[in-house]
Amino acid sequence: MYSNPHGRSTAAPKKVTAPDVRARKGGPALAMVTAYDFTMARLLDEAGVDLLLVGDSLGMVVQGLANTLPVTLDEIAYHARAVARATTRAHVVGDMPFMSYQVSSTQAVESAGKLVKDGACESVKLEGGEDFAEHVWRIVRAGVPVMGHVGLMPQSVHALGGFKVQGRGDDAEAKVLADAKALEEAGAYAIVLEAIPPDLAAKVTASVGVPTIGIGAGPQCDGQVLVCTDLLGMGRGHSPKFAKAYAQLGDAIVAATRRYVDEVQSGAFPAEEHSYKPNRAAESGPRVSEQEREPARVVNLRH
Ligand code: KIV
Repeated sequence: MYSNPHGRSTAAPKKVTAPDVRARKGGPALAMVTAYDFTMARLLDEAGVDLLLVGDSLGMVVQGLANTLPVTLDEIAYHARAVARATTRAHVVGDMPFMSYQVSSTQAVESAGKLVKDGACESVKLEGGEDFAEHVWRIVRAGVPVMGHVGLMPQSVHALGGFKVQGRGDDAEAKVLADAKALEEAGAYAIVLEAIPPDLAAKVTASVGVPTIGIGAGPQCDGQVLVCTDLLGMGRGHSPKFAKAYAQLGDAIVAATRRYVDEVQSGAFPAEEHSYKPNRAAESGPRVSEQEREPARVVNLRH
């Protein structure tokens, strides 16, 4: 049984599957958000997102790196396990990091398999179009659904000369369209369109039979994806033009923590309601009776 936010037990919500996502072409629009840990994933799942992406953006968001290139397959699997454990409805997608699939289609199948077996992912995502269509085809034939990713492909940051809008000019437009077509033909169930002009995204969306999920690609995609810390206003410094913040949790966290620091320093925390009953009226030291111990501690004491 599943305990809903009101504390009532209900049947667990039905998991969103890759075929469900595929069937959402043309609407209702898909909402995807990145997640990297149990606590965040549980809240995003409760909010009703359709897909949680354990993106290689974790390199920048969680690890503080300048780009996604150093992220490893083991790191994606580690974070994905925590996300999958928290998720009752959303479909969990694991991102294939740089050099986990580019070498050969055999390497791609093995890496996708690891994200399913070790990371509990329900599908994988990889960057690249025509050049990696064969890899997508092989992974799909091995039984793992694949989400494609074209337009700005952050793993190619050095080749692109930076994180820049893609698909400007006739040749670049044709390339994005051809990449998306190649992914669809290879069996991808959805395609992320990153940082391309909105009219090009609309053209791609109209020309493929699988859902497009945009990030910096305008409103005419079949869905949207945001990085969770952008969506929640947790970043410090520059955030991309397309990143709408629906809350300012960064400021809220700093303000709450400042209050905590002040109260620790003034002695206002912990107050009586945050303390266990003293053993003797005059004594309020750290001694705690056995019944009052937190359950986990009682278990530990038995060992
Ligand atoms: O890694 C990631 O977070 C992504 C999204 C931006 C689509 O690939």
